[in-house]
Amino acid sequence: MSAKKAHFIVQTASAPDPEIEVLFSADQIASRLDELAESLAKRLPSEIVVVPLLKGSFMFAADLMRMLHKHGLTCRVEFITVSSYGNDTTSSGELKISSDLPEDLVGNIVLLIDDILDTGRTLHWTHDNLLAAGAAEIVTCVLLDKPSRRIVPFEADFVGFTIPDRFVVGYGIDYAQRYRELPYIGAMPG
Ligand code: IMP
Ligand code: MG
Repeated sequence: MSAKKAHFIVQTASAPDPEIEVLFSADQIASRLDELAESLAKRLPSEIVVVPLLKGSFMFAADLMRMLHKHGLTCRVEFITVSSYGNDTTSSGELKISSDLPEDLVGNIVLLIDDILDTGRTLHWTHDNLLAAGAAEIVTCVLLDKPSRRIVPFEADFVGFTIPDRFVVGYGIDYAQRYRELPYIGAMPG
C-alpha cells in the first residue's frame, strides 16, 4: 500500500499544470534554499526570530527554517499579514498589519521573509515597522526578486532567485488564491 501511495505522489509532483511554464523545479528550489541557509547561518547569530509575511511565504519559510536548523540555527517564528488599505487597484501604497505585531521583538535579530520583492512597498514598510517595534536588527530574505519592478528603493539582504517581470505562481505563491500547492515555481502565460 505504501509503494502505491509513493507512486501516486511522484506522478502528481512531476506532472506540471500544462498552462504554467516551470521556472524553478522543486529540486532547484531545495538546493538553492540549502545555499541560502548556509549563507544566512554565516551572517546571523545562532538564535533568531523569523518573521514570514503571509500568505505567500508560508512554504518558503517552512522549508527555509528546516534548512536553517540543518545549518545550526535556532528559530522562533512570528507570522504577520500585511495588506493594503481600501482598494488594491489604486496602489496607494498605504499598508497595514492585519495580524497583531509580533511581541517581544525588543533587542532581537529578526529574519524578515517574503515570497516576492516587487515594487518594494511591502518590505520597505514592514522593515520600518519592525524596527519601530524594537527589533535590534532586521535581515531580509526573499525567495524571488523582480528588480525591474521596483518603485520604492529597497534591496533584500538575501535573494533566492532574481527573475524578470513575469507573473509567477506556485510554492506558496498564488494567482487569485490558486496554485499555492504547486511544488515548483512557474510563470503564468502571457
Ligand atoms: P511589493 O514589493 O510591495 O510590490 O509586493 C510584493 C507582493 O506582491 C508579494 O509579496 C506578492 O504577494 C505580490 N506579488 C508580486 N509579484 C507577484 C507575482 O508574480 N505573483 C504573485 N504575487 C505577486
Ligand atoms: Mg505577499
